[in-house]
Amino acid sequence: MSLIDPFGRSIDYIRLSVTDRCDLRCFYCMPKGFKGFEEPEHWLTFDEIERVIRIFGALGTRRVRITGGEPLVRKNIPELATRLSALPGIEDLSLSSNAVQLDRHAESLYASGVSRLNISLDTLNAKRFKEITGGKLEKVIDGLMAAKAAGFSPVKINMVVMKGINEDEVEAMVDFCIEHDFTLRFIETMPMGATGKDAVDHYVNLQTVRAKLEERFEMVPGVMPGGGPARYLRVVGTDLRIGFITPISQHFCETCNRVRLSVDGTLYLCLGQNDKFELRPLLRDGISDDGLEEAIRHAITLKPERHEFNEKPSQVVRFMSMTGG
Ligand code: GTP
Ligand code: 5AD
Ligand code: SF4
Repeated sequence: MSLIDPFGRSIDYIRLSVTDRCDLRCFYCMPKGFKGFEEPEHWLTFDEIERVIRIFGALGTRRVRITGGEPLVRKNIPELATRLSALPGIEDLSLSSNAVQLDRHAESLYASGVSRLNISLDTLNAKRFKEITGGKLEKVIDGLMAAKAAGFSPVKINMVVMKGINEDEVEAMVDFCIEHDFTLRFIETMPMGATGKDAVDHYVNLQTVRAKLEERFEMVPGVMPGGGPARYLRVVGTDLRIGFITPISQHFCETCNRVRLSVDGTLYLCLGQNDKFELRPLLRDGISDDGLEEAIRHAITLKPERHEFNEKPSQVVRFMSMTGG
């Protein structure tokens, strides 16, 4: 049993956004002063989420990633994780977080069946961190150390590389990840929502980052657990794997394996496009499991071939904070 889209791609990875709220305000992700959050009555309940993911599991989905906004601002995420990791077919349950509140959640998340964490961290400089996100770096570092102590492996660090902001910290981040045994991924900025112009202004082509690192390190092809778009190199003489996520300079849409479910029960078929299908009305009208399965199969037929960030950088797609990247 599997979901195949119109371009022959097998869809086996769902990214599940459990809130559109975030406790940081990264300038390239959220517009300044953004308060347009949805009201909680529109949010899918844990029962509704579990039901949708159970059907996806029956249709061949093997990987679930919990995202936000910041997933840990929603209450009782370990409880949700316990329920999702027990579903038939779901083999890989992971979570993406900014780690601000990870310190106190790491152990319960690990116990609940989340096996992998991806953490956003763009700088190791506290002043810069404050400028970029509005938050405190110290909390993120505490969260990362708690994750390691709780047994998470791998812990991947996501660094959005930005011209004039943190480009000069690429090597420092490599050293940090070697020291702490984290996996490092560099990400190219994508023009999303009202913050699109910032993304274009600060864009760095990761091929130049790779070339610069190759002057200092010998790097060979590597692999990592996970099902996302990163292409990995291993730094010879260390255990460090560096992933390059290059939606702009080398897009990876031919191998796309995912769809996104937002907190209000909308399935988004592509990160860079507006194609969507709303499941919440069906769920609340009492649709049967067969009906839900049919609806999901139909939604997959709406998946576009690829993003058009390069051709249409000013096309307004939703904010990253709605579906978590
Ligand atoms: P694993 O490989 O399973 O560890 O996960 P992942 O890398 O897919 O998840 P993560 O949440 O860490 O995503 C990292 C970043 O990759 C996101 O914030 C996006 O910037 C980018 N990304 C993830 N999925 C997609 C996608 O489908 N399309 C595009 N264009 N970018 C994506
Ligand atoms: N382009 C690329 N990555 C982005 N993220 C948020 N907004 C953007 C954007 N416009 C990243 C965050 C985090 C992940 C969930 O998404 O930094 O690592
Ligand atoms: Fe898939 Fe769209 Fe991301 Fe391309 S941009 S990898 S088609 S979700």
